[in-house]
Amino acid sequence: MSDFIPPAMDQMRKNYSLGGLHEKDAKRDPLVQFHCWFEEALEDVPSWFEPNAMTLSTSDSGGEITSRIVLLKGVEEKKFLFYTNYDSTKGSQMRANPRVSLCLFWPHCQRQVRIQGLVDKVSRDMSEKYFHSRPRDSQLGAHVSQQSATIESREALEASLAELKARYPEGSKIPLPENWGGYAVTPMSFEFWQGRPSRLHDRLVYQRERADSSEWTIKRLSP
Ligand SMILES: Cc1cc2nc3c(=O)[nH]c(=O)nc-3n(C[C@H](O)[C@H](O)[C@H](O)COP(=O)(O)O)c2cc1C
Repeated sequence: MSDFIPPAMDQMRKNYSLGGLHEKDAKRDPLVQFHCWFEEALEDVPSWFEPNAMTLSTSDSGGEITSRIVLLKGVEEKKFLFYTNYDSTKGSQMRANPRVSLCLFWPHCQRQVRIQGLVDKVSRDMSEKYFHSRPRDSQLGAHVSQQSATIESREALEASLAELKARYPEGSKIPLPENWGGYAVTPMSFEFWQGRPSRLHDRLVYQRERADSSEWTIKRLSP
């Protein structure tokens, strides 16, 4: 009995009927379209849901792919920002291969946005600013966590935190760790997906040839 298939799983499905996405309504600039959908995702959002949570997929030079959730922390200069540990699994994969994919799912809107792009580190200055805007405990957490490395135990982690709290008493400045900071994804393609009845969903794909081009082609994909 090692299989996990709840009896009704194969019958779990929803019909999507909240809206549609038509070419005549879609913005010419996908960043504007993203902005509109993000604003709408903030309306009537359940309190437990984080609309800026996105799946980040990365791969190494051997083609090994990994995915995880990170939080979108802004769209600046037309780039999608998130923060993490540069020595983590994702950090070393992005060093090996700067091509990444982002995916946001807004279930209360029956919408998904996929973004493919090229990733770069943000400036140290920008990381500094964001790091010091975080709650103090999160700043300490970034120091304590050797993200993605194997550790001995939970207790060892908490002991490191206690040590660090003593080293940086309330009111003192916690420095930005060398291996922690932001990444910016320059989008090369977007897909906006709106669930529709009978699985006949709307899918509009925006693509451009070069990262500095503002000429986007828009195509409809079969659901
Ligand atoms: C809702 C949510 C938000 C998260 N946000 C971040 C984030 O912004 N940055 C980050 O490094 N990890 C974040 N994580 C943890 C990652 O999913 C992941 O466990 C961690 O980054 C290690 O990934 P890696 O070993 O593939 O590098 C978040 C997880 C969840 C569930």
